[in-house]
Amino acid sequence: MSRVSIAIFASGTGSNCENIIRYFQSSNTVCTSLVVSNKSDAPVLDKARRLGVTTKVVNKAELNDEQVMMPMLREYNVQFIVLAGFLPIIPDFMVNAFDHRMINLHPSLLPKFGGKGMWGHHVHEAVKAAGEKETGMTVHWVTPVCDGGDIIAQFRCQLSPDDTADDIAAKEHQLEMRHFPEVIEQLLS
Ligand code: GRF
Repeated sequence: MSRVSIAIFASGTGSNCENIIRYFQSSNTVCTSLVVSNKSDAPVLDKARRLGVTTKVVNKAELNDEQVMMPMLREYNVQFIVLAGFLPIIPDFMVNAFDHRMINLHPSLLPKFGGKGMWGHHVHEAVKAAGEKETGMTVHWVTPVCDGGDIIAQFRCQLSPDDTADDIAAKEHQLEMRHFPEVIEQLLS
């Protein structure tokens, strides 16, 4: 049986991207074929290259151009897309082409702390400001509604009143490292 070819889209550090690539390096079911970023200096690019995965950088115009993106994804036979800290809005043609084949990782327990402007540290600061007793990560299908697609999996962690936004981010990040690749594996096997 041939392996499912995935692309990971990421804009920043790429700790999830690296974790996913490593997790599937010796997998019989999943192969990371491509890493796409919108930032040419994103650390994720070096991480992916060091692990032997092809990388592409697309600017805003290219990302929104069907004639650029679809041939690129076809060239690498991409069957499934993982958004792991990818900041730009995904164009509708990709959402439609990858209906129920594109997932996003969000660093809160959606529907709480989701939507426009809610990314990275903004999320953890909002969780702190709201005095939440728990937070967590959500994996959901990508639809035209920002952070609004059906939820696939959530994992939670307890917070203490002393936790700073950085502490909250660190606790939530641990969940991502532990669970995200497994969720992908379960979806694809
Ligand atoms: C993660 O916290 C993810 O939940 C969010 O962006 C962050 C990406 O971190 N969508 P990294 O680039 O994988 O280190």
